[in-house]
Parts: sequence; structure tokens; C-alpha cells
Amino acid sequence: MSFPTHRMRRLRKTKTLRKLFEETRLGPIDFILPLFVAEDLKIPENIASMPGVQRHSFSSLVREAASSHALGIQAVLLFGIPHKKDSLATEAFKKNGVIQKAVGLLKKEVPSLAVITDVCACEYTSHGHCGIIQKGDVSNDPTLGLLQKIALSHAQAGADMVAPSDMMDGRIGAIRKVLDRKGFTDTPILSYAAKFSTCFYGPFRDAADSAPTFGDRKTYQMPATNPREALREIQLDIEEGADVVMVKPALTALDIIAKAKLKFFAPLWAYHVSGEYAMIKAGEKMGWLAKDTAMAESLLAIKRAGADRIITYWAKEAAKFFK
Ligand code: PBG
Repeated sequence: MSFPTHRMRRLRKTKTLRKLFEETRLGPIDFILPLFVAEDLKIPENIASMPGVQRHSFSSLVREAASSHALGIQAVLLFGIPHKKDSLATEAFKKNGVIQKAVGLLKKEVPSLAVITDVCACEYTSHGHCGIIQKGDVSNDPTLGLLQKIALSHAQAGADMVAPSDMMDGRIGAIRKVLDRKGFTDTPILSYAAKFSTCFYGPFRDAADSAPTFGDRKTYQMPATNPREALREIQLDIEEGADVVMVKPALTALDIIAKAKLKFFAPLWAYHVSGEYAMIKAGEKMGWLAKDTAMAESLLAIKRAGADRIITYWAKEAAKFFK
């Protein structure tokens, strides 16, 4: 029997009732904050295409991490900007490289905050690609050795979890193998498992100075047309030993998040990326979108689709909003 027996509006009548019947909840625990640290900076620098986000110096990084943790955020995801780049990304696996140093500092100053490191070459290569170039393209297998070196150096520096974002085939297995061999059997791998090729990484590439100098990333990142291929990517990464799988970007891949949630049982994270952040910031600046509400609705949609946790530049604001 339908109306008038059933009145859906009954449970929406008051604020308290609306709260009581919320199906999707968000809180500080849901958010992971990405942070950029630049080796050469003495003071933090604003990023034009990501209002409110900064490239940090080592000391401002520690301050930002500590204040985030105080708001209830449990993990940060680190990206490094080295003082020099070369074709083989040698700065990426240096013992005292930008990330290795940053991890050491964070683990000393904010020990209970989990530090996750992005494992990729694009911030460290002069050509801006995510691996070693041969014959005009990123060559898969030689890149695996490079990723192993980067991941191992992060684990040795004290990273709580490593997060490969390069989309090479076989990298999860390769990284697991080297970590295990060197005694890091308990260091988890967060895999950027279904990572789509998209213009929404644009502001990030400004921030990390990591845009490719030729071509694009379409031979390694996923095409937006292929949901089944995305699920296969996730499946393979779980088989290779990923502890956590991620879908990225978030708002243009809600279908993938929803399907992956039903199909797999590994923790499922989503990355609400730089362009998704920037477009709402731009809308707010123009006065076309309501401040905080556009953020809240976006994050709720990602959680509702099935993401267990959300990596977002809004982590601090969202932690306050959803407290
Ligand atoms: C590195 C990497 C990228 C992002 C995360 N790790 C950029 C890219 O693949 O070009 C994008 C994150 C964002 O846009 O917020 N490979």
C-alpha cells in the first residue's frame, strides 16, 4: 500500500529526525590529506590552481601534519618535489631525498600520524613521465626496478604505507617482493589500482611540476570508456598483494567504486583529485556554488558510492565540517 499510508516526508520533518535516519556518515577518520613538500623551499608557497593548498617546506609540512592530526585526521599522503630532476628519477630513491627526509621528520614529530608515500617517478623525471623512457614511451619492465627502489627507500625511511601511482603492470607484485625480501613484511601497499587518464590531474601537475614534456599518460593510465578493464586492474592488484585498492579520480568514477565495493573485499579508497577540488573552488570564487556545501555533497557521494576512505585536499575543512 502506498500513499497515504507511506509518507516519505515523515522522516524528514525535523533536523533531529533527518540526522537519526542518515544512511551515510562522514567524520575526520574518513579523510586522508595529500601534502606536497618541496626540497628547496624555506617558506610554503601557494599553488595558483589549487586555492588553499600549498607546497610545503619541511617545517611547514610538520606544522600542517600536526594540525591535521589534531583535527582527527589519521593519515597523510606525501608527494615530494626534488631540487633537481633527471631522466632516471635518481632523486626519488636517494637515502636523504625529499620524501625520505620528510618521512623521518614526520615520524619523529607526529609519531601517531600514519605517513603514506606516493611511489612514482613523474615528480623526479626531467621528462615528467612515470617511468623509464625507451623508444618514446614508458617501458614497463625496466620501470619496475625503479619503483622497487623508490618503495624500499620509503619503507626504510619509516613510511607506514607505500602507494604506487604509476600504473605499470606487475608493480604491486614487484614491490611486495622487494619489501618482503628486505624485512618489510608488515609495510602495506595502497595501490592506485584503477587510475584513469584525465584532465582532472591538471592542477596537481602544476603543484608537483610533473606534467609530461611530450605525449601523455594514455599508454599506462586507464581510458574513461572501460569499466570492466578497471575492475580487472583492481583484481590483478589484489592478486599481486595490494592491501588497499584505490579508484581515482572519484566523481567521474563513482560507478567503478560502487562495482568494486560489491566485487572485492579489500579496503577500498577513492582519490578526490586536484581538478575536482579546483573546479568547486572556482565555482565558489565566482559565487556560483555555495561554500562548504559543494564540498560536502561531493564527499558524501564518494562515500555513498562505497569508498571506505577518501583522499582529499579538503581533509581539514571536511574534518571540521563533519565533526
Ligand atoms: C603521480 C600522481 C598524479 C596524481 C597522484 N599521483 C598525477 C598524474 O598521474 O599525472 C594526481 C593527483 C591529483 O590530481 O590530485 N603519478
